[in-house]
Amino acid sequence: MPLGKWAALVAMAVVMETTAAFPSSLLIKNEDDSITWSCSGSPGEQVEWKWNGNRLKDSGQELVINNLDIPYTGNYSCWAGPRLLQSFYVVMRMKHTYFFKTEGTKEEPAITCWAPSYNGTLNCSWNSQNAAIFLARLKHQDTEAELCSTEVALPGNSRVQVQLKNCSFCSYAEETPVTPLVLVLKGLSRDGGYSEVEKTFFLWDVVKPDAPAYLNITGRKVSWAPPASWDLPTTYFPLQYSLRLESASGRHENFLLELITEQKWHKAQIRCQDPLIQSSWSSWQEWKK
Ligand SMILES: *[C@@H]1O[C@H](CO)[C@@H](O)[C@H](O)[C@H]1NC(C)=O
Ligand SMILES: *[C@@H]1O[C@H](CO)[C@@H](O)[C@H](O)[C@H]1NC(C)=O
Ligand SMILES: *[C@@H]1O[C@H](CO)[C@@H](O)[C@H](O)[C@H]1NC(C)=O
Ligand SMILES: *[C@@H]1O[C@H](CO)[C@@H](O)[C@H](O)[C@H]1NC(C)=O
Ligand SMILES: *[C@@H]1O[C@H](CO)[C@@H](O)[C@H](O)[C@H]1NC(C)=O
Repeated sequence: MPLGKWAALVAMAVVMETTAAFPSSLLIKNEDDSITWSCSGSPGEQVEWKWNGNRLKDSGQELVINNLDIPYTGNYSCWAGPRLLQSFYVVMRMKHTYFFKTEGTKEEPAITCWAPSYNGTLNCSWNSQNAAIFLARLKHQDTEAELCSTEVALPGNSRVQVQLKNCSFCSYAEETPVTPLVLVLKGLSRDGGYSEVEKTFFLWDVVKPDAPAYLNITGRKVSWAPPASWDLPTTYFPLQYSLRLESASGRHENFLLELITEQKWHKAQIRCQDPLIQSSWSSWQEWKK
């Protein structure tokens, strides 16, 4: 689709009905598709059509759209007098790059997800390309059941981070075979463009603990606590810690905590990882003296 065509559509987009929330069901069509709807009331009833709330001249049981294009997307409804018979929310499929920035020369959108624990919280981040509402849904591969979802409305050209809460990962269940998780990300622009991308991953590949809750140094004694977001008990969800010491001269040394011996340090900081899955390390805690 040539750019000039888009420019001409801007004025059109402004007057269109705006959707505050992601519509619960969409009729997803391609550019130039032809669409025919049939709608019937009781025998003898006159059927009328509305588009984004505006009465259409067409009446009768059938509405036809030839050559779908952006100006024809939106909410179509048929009515028998004041009675709503049906409604369809028509969107036009766009390339995913209409909504999602890709990284470098890659075709795939750059979407990153990470989980601070196994307890059902997942953060995902991507760069949006166009003003849109995004719906993020998490499911297991080969099933449709939703584990958790969230939606966010965004201006174009921004970095977004969403948090999916209460996801039932079932990560402790000994499922065989273990099915990966799939993040389904749908974008819908105000002008009716639509695209959908997926990212497949295993939970253990994206676990990154938050930084340890604190590091306390008193004389030669160090004490610390796991991040508050980490799963308990730590006997079941162990963490290992890495301590970084800075000498008075500014030299750094790293230790896994079980290896630590007497050291002369000036400043120290700490981080953690899940040793069983060798997860990503958390970020470092602040330096402590
Ligand atoms: C479409 O319009 C119908 C009739 O006004 C309304 O009931 C429905 O909620 C609208 N759908 C969306 C997604 O806005
Ligand atoms: C996850 O996202 C939420 C909301 O954007 C943010 O407040 C929180 O700090 C994020 N957590 C992590 C571990 O990145
Ligand atoms: C998550 O679950 C808790 C307890 O079941 C509930 O109170 C809370 O509203 C849920 N949060 C979301 C975002 O669904
Ligand atoms: C750090 O250690 C000191 C001395 O043992 C103690 O008084 C203080 O409560 C500790 N702080 C934390 C956050 O545990
Ligand atoms: C899960 O962890 C998040 C922080 O990562 C925390 O806010 C939430 O309360 C925890 N939920 C449960 C059920 O433990």
